[in-house]
Amino acid sequence: MHEDLERIVLTKEQIAEKVQKAAAWLDERFARTTPLAISVLKGSVFFFCDLVRAMKTSVQLDFMTMSSYGSDAVSSGMPKIVMDLAASVKGRDVILVEDIVDTGHTLMRMKDLILGRGAKSFTIVSLFDKPSRREVPVQADYTCFEIENEFIVGYGLDYAQKYRDLPYVGILKRSIYEK
Ligand code: PRP
Repeated sequence: MHEDLERIVLTKEQIAEKVQKAAAWLDERFARTTPLAISVLKGSVFFFCDLVRAMKTSVQLDFMTMSSYGSDAVSSGMPKIVMDLAASVKGRDVILVEDIVDTGHTLMRMKDLILGRGAKSFTIVSLFDKPSRREVPVQADYTCFEIENEFIVGYGLDYAQKYRDLPYVGILKRSIYEK
């Protein structure tokens, strides 16, 4: 385990099991279409790659970089588009893949944007949900893990851009972010 972590909350194997279930859920819904799967970078990158490869349905891929936290531990409440999509979403079945829904501002922004651009349908899959932190009324259609308000990192999730590359998810020691 990384020395900056208090404990591991999800192992590689536990994550993989949930990813398979999320992929099966998507396969059931999108069997007869070719949806456009969008990864909200950077946090969702590993979840996205594992999820689309676990799906039987063929999907097309696109990426969008949003940022609301910068190097802070607190959301700015004003997510910014750092890099926009390459593809048009008009008339498409869109699957938006997030790593975590926290205040909900990022998701709300993405939802307005994608539906505003004429997507046919919009389905949100999130690895984590922190419902106790919600500031705007939005939720994923499929959530792998609901969690308390703990500072988790790993498998894409960062603190100040660190720990994303850990293959598991753990709770960061308070001493690291309260420095
Ligand atoms: C994180 C996370 C979500 C968003 C959720 O992204 O990846 O996209 O915050 O928070 P919210 O519900 O409060 O909006 P961040 O802006 O930290 O960028 P990152 O994905 O590059 O880590």
